[in-house]
Amino acid sequence: MTLVKMKDILQAAEENNYGVGAFSVANMEMVIAAIRTAEEHRSPLILQIAEVRLGPSPLHLIGPMMIEAAKKASVPVAVHFDHGETEEKIKEALEIGFTSVMYDGSLLSLEENIVETKKIVKLAESYGATVEAEIGRVGGSEDGTVDIEIAITSVEEAKRFATETGIDALAIAIGNAHGVYKGKPNLRFDLLDEINQEVEIPLVLHGGSGISQDDFRTAIVHGIRKINVATSTFNNVVKCVNEDAPFTDYFTFHERLIQAAAENVKVHMEMFQSTGRI
Ligand code: 13P
Repeated sequence: MTLVKMKDILQAAEENNYGVGAFSVANMEMVIAAIRTAEEHRSPLILQIAEVRLGPSPLHLIGPMMIEAAKKASVPVAVHFDHGETEEKIKEALEIGFTSVMYDGSLLSLEENIVETKKIVKLAESYGATVEAEIGRVGGSEDGTVDIEIAITSVEEAKRFATETGIDALAIAIGNAHGVYKGKPNLRFDLLDEINQEVEIPLVLHGGSGISQDDFRTAIVHGIRKINVATSTFNNVVKCVNEDAPFTDYFTFHERLIQAAAENVKVHMEMFQSTGRI
């Protein structure tokens, strides 16, 4: 067990038809919550933080903590750098020991995205790390500052992108969006199915918060192996802490924060059917 490559976690999920949650963390309590839940429920885990979130959680502080927590876990844990935007930060994450990085070139043209992604694939190769990249554009934005319009993934582009870049996992846009969904998410499973038939590598679904169990299960049947969850963890923590406030001491607050994050991780692991796999 311990710190593993994301590629290995996704391969086991592929062989046994389940999904693995990639849970975004912002502090030590969330790291503890995710690891504790994975251990209790015998689930593989992907711990992640996005480049845009490094303001409140600096990489040189949270990164080594994520790595150390993963190394000591009794289940396989991959540590992933989500939505990497700059080669500089991606390299910093790899130096710290992240076993997986995402390069997000979704705002670039297909040609430019291929060129830039290939650079990251080459860089990550020297660290033995897994690479995820995105084709099409997931809606919303990781930190909610901009409302990026969804650009649905084209099957042809997905196939070409995966083949030419040599990435290990492909994030696609099939109606999914970051943050809180404005209405009921309308995922294009027909398109997902087509992409899955044409693309050999595991597929990634961003914008996990707010998707129903039925939709997760259908997505998994059609090839989704990694599912990103951020907003619902952050929101659950705020909600539970608000409900229990005022706290009489810091350490009760600390434990409540862990419990609240853990509750959300557990619910999602069950929906993804990754519990009991280890
Ligand atoms: P949510 O915040 O919608 O769960 O999305 C998380 C995500 O996709 C991170 O990359």
